[in-house]
Amino acid sequence: MLRGSLSGGVLYVVCCWSMVAMVVESGIGVNWGTISSHRLKPSTVVDLLRENKIQKVKLFEADPDVLKALMGSGIQVMVGIPNEMLSILSSSPSASDFWVRRNVSAYMGKGGADIRYIAVGNEPFLTSYNGQFQNLVMPAILNIQQSLVKANLAGYVKLVVPCNADAYESSGLPSQGVFRPELTQIMTQLVQFLNTNGSPFVVNIYPFLSLYDNKDFPQEYAFFEGTTHPVQDGPNVYTNAFDGNYDTLVAALGKLGFGQIPIVIGEIGWPSDGAIGANITAAKVFNQGLINHIATNKGTPLRPNAPPMDVYLFSLLDEGAKSTLPGNFERHWGIFSFDGQAKYPLNLLLGNKELKNARNVQYLPSRWCVATPSGDLTDVVNHMRLACSVADCTTLNYGGSCNEIGEKGNISYAFNSYYQLQMQDSRSCDFDGLGMVTFLDPSVGDCRFLVGVTDKGSDSSSFQTTCQWWILVVLLLLEGTFLLSV
Ligand SMILES: *[C@@H]1O[C@H](CO)[C@@H](O)[C@H](O)[C@H]1NC(C)=O
Ligand SMILES: *[C@@H]1O[C@H](CO)[C@@H](O)[C@H](O)[C@H]1NC(C)=O
Ligand SMILES: *[C@@H]1O[C@H](CO)[C@@H](O)[C@H](O)[C@H]1NC(C)=O
Repeated sequence: MLRGSLSGGVLYVVCCWSMVAMVVESGIGVNWGTISSHRLKPSTVVDLLRENKIQKVKLFEADPDVLKALMGSGIQVMVGIPNEMLSILSSSPSASDFWVRRNVSAYMGKGGADIRYIAVGNEPFLTSYNGQFQNLVMPAILNIQQSLVKANLAGYVKLVVPCNADAYESSGLPSQGVFRPELTQIMTQLVQFLNTNGSPFVVNIYPFLSLYDNKDFPQEYAFFEGTTHPVQDGPNVYTNAFDGNYDTLVAALGKLGFGQIPIVIGEIGWPSDGAIGANITAAKVFNQGLINHIATNKGTPLRPNAPPMDVYLFSLLDEGAKSTLPGNFERHWGIFSFDGQAKYPLNLLLGNKELKNARNVQYLPSRWCVATPSGDLTDVVNHMRLACSVADCTTLNYGGSCNEIGEKGNISYAFNSYYQLQMQDSRSCDFDGLGMVTFLDPSVGDCRFLVGVTDKGSDSSSFQTTCQWWILVVLLLLEGTFLLSV
């Protein structure tokens, strides 16, 4: 049954693909990450996607609640396999079968989730991982591909590996692009696999990070408004970092003999807070500039008239519980804030002129925790440190939207973040008598004191995940016994 309805789907896709192939148009999608302490209900997020006519979504996991909410939505989905799972999936075909059954097959079919891609790892070749995932990628891919074949899904669901742009380098000119020497062999195998299976090469490109990491990086080159310092590469002129980076990849792929393989941008965006250069205006200008640039269908000098196949914005929502190791901006990539409210007008060119806010968001009551007016605040440092070690205080730092609200404002902000994280539990606003609850919104200017949302994700899913792991362990033990007996 499943097989019947799916092969129908494949034919349909093939026929429509050849129809649209004449007018190459990129699809705009979004990344939906869920590392947040105030999570919206998945169904609220799916409604948000639909309201905004977003047809493609990229996930970092295969969260059951998220996939259930996407069922029947018609939205095309890329599910992700976290790097930590590559080890088991590369070494055990039955773990791979089990993963595909549980996390893909289970949701497909009529009225199901339209899973089109599986991202095997997330930036597994990142330099900072020191190669720990490098040799797991191809074996994991080969196992999962076999599992897809067994599940009759191999023609429909494609495997991809989102790579960070640090997988390739150049002496400064795009045409000089090459993959990092230690990756040459694995990239050759990977790209051969992708090419054989009709999968695109997925790359994440971040002009913001180029600017953030390098004081000498010309700021206007990060955007799409033109520059007084274009990069001249032989006959080709580059006026923005995105095109330059993209063509560096095209050149690197060309050197492996695959200069024509389709490219998908897995992540691209601009944060709105948490660093100098990360603000609402810059985020709007970058994202709108990118969308308009892609929509011209001009492509790049090395791939004229062939823009990337799809572009997934990073990100849909802010994720306030992400690690701040890369920088405080890491929690502020959303085009929507954590509660699904648009940060700025943005035309995705999908049919609406502006972003539409999430509806029916269930907030906690309108109350905040602040520092008492008269309290002796000399000993408050430890409370603040504790509050900010678990709650999000990233906007308080230099370059953040709450950096200039004064010492007392700082303390109130930290208290409130903690209080909301604790779902407004009254004990969490005590701070040895230094905190008090207020019904007056303490927000100042651009500095927003948040009120949490009530949905924290259902407990049933973590129970289910635990169960799945037990089944997996049993399977592995069985496999072990089997191997021993052979
Ligand atoms: C399915 O994916 C989820 C989220 O990535 C993971 O926690 C779970 O272990 C996976 N299931 C199996 C059977 O591997
Ligand atoms: C916002 O960021 C841009 C660059 O990313 C910078 O030029 C501009 O000065 C910033 N605006 C403010 C108000 O900080
Ligand atoms: C508020 O806290 C931030 C972050 O710790 C700090 O940079 C800023 O100077 C503080 N402001 C005052 C007035 O203490």
